[in-house]
Amino acid sequence: MKLHTQYSLKAFNTFGIEQSAENFVAVSSQIQLKEALSLKSFEQKFILGGGSNLLLTQPIKGLCIHIALKGINVIQEDDKTVLVEAMAGENWHDFVCWTLEQGYGGLENLSLIPGNVGTSPIQNIGAYGVELKDVFENCTALDRNDLSERSFSKKEAQFGYRSSYFKTEGKGQYVITAVRFRLTKKAHQINISYGAIKEALGDQETTPQNIANALIGIRQSKLPNPAELGNSGSFFKNPVITKTQYDQLLLTHPSLPSYPQENGEVKVPAGWLIDQLGFKGKRIGDAGVHAKQALVLVNYGAATGQEILALAIEIQATVKENFDIDLEAEVNIL
Ligand code: EPU
Repeated sequence: MKLHTQYSLKAFNTFGIEQSAENFVAVSSQIQLKEALSLKSFEQKFILGGGSNLLLTQPIKGLCIHIALKGINVIQEDDKTVLVEAMAGENWHDFVCWTLEQGYGGLENLSLIPGNVGTSPIQNIGAYGVELKDVFENCTALDRNDLSERSFSKKEAQFGYRSSYFKTEGKGQYVITAVRFRLTKKAHQINISYGAIKEALGDQETTPQNIANALIGIRQSKLPNPAELGNSGSFFKNPVITKTQYDQLLLTHPSLPSYPQENGEVKVPAGWLIDQLGFKGKRIGDAGVHAKQALVLVNYGAATGQEILALAIEIQATVKENFDIDLEAEVNIL
């Protein structure tokens, strides 16, 4: 376990922001993680996963602990299903590809989402009608207070839209070390409810691998690859508004898309609101709004976290002024 000082985090956040950690250590085993968490010389400790949902606006004080625990194992299986455990430091998309290569179904709609396995439950990652909670069995986490290990069932994880116990009540208390997924070996529960998927599939068979390939094509056509253009996926959550407010907005904006919620409220796409206000493709210095998806903020190279944040604040204020809707950041701003 090597301790680095004044360590650049540029390669550790998908926005590609040049920011540093006062102290940095990468841990590749549970023992190392416990050792790092118990280092008394650092008052503040920050846990860093894949850095895909993070906007760094200042240096990280104290000790930054990068979770690099690796391993994928089948821990139980029957005729129809399989329980797969992936360690927190596994790259999410590589893990999805591994499951597809084995012929397992369940993760295909979540292909190509940046980040690591360990952070996937925190914001209950989701895309194209599927959320992590649909395949989550349980996860193991270390309590940062006493270094005890505990397991969280799906119920205990309290999943919501881009939210969980780890982002709300339990925020900052636990480090997820491994996640277990219940996947299918046959009779796959496919979800091709999004028109774009059906279109991309054409007359191909609806196998998990074919669905994943179709989705990868769709995502690549509108979402920038962080390796080429720094970004953190959707910067804001899609806001949920009252039916009354939605009906009011429809009078002036008849083409406003909507996703009705079970409780009668209406989720509206933040990307659409931002796009309507002319932000798509806008660039201020090296901070910008992606030209093909207004919900994605991008770093053209040398943007600072502060510059990206200033653009996000401008977007929030303009959306508020024009639609009276509060946009909440999905990305963690540090
Ligand atoms: N739209 C526009 N202009 C834009 C962007 C979107 O008019 O610039 C409209 C689209 O035409 C569509 C609607 O807004 O009618 C929704 O757009 P899209 O299907 O691209 O999805 P989204 O709501 O912007 C969400 C997730 C994505 C996920 C996609 C597909 C959130 C915050 N984002 O985006 O997740 O990939 O659906 O399921 O829920 C992420 O969380 O990082 C992420 C990329």
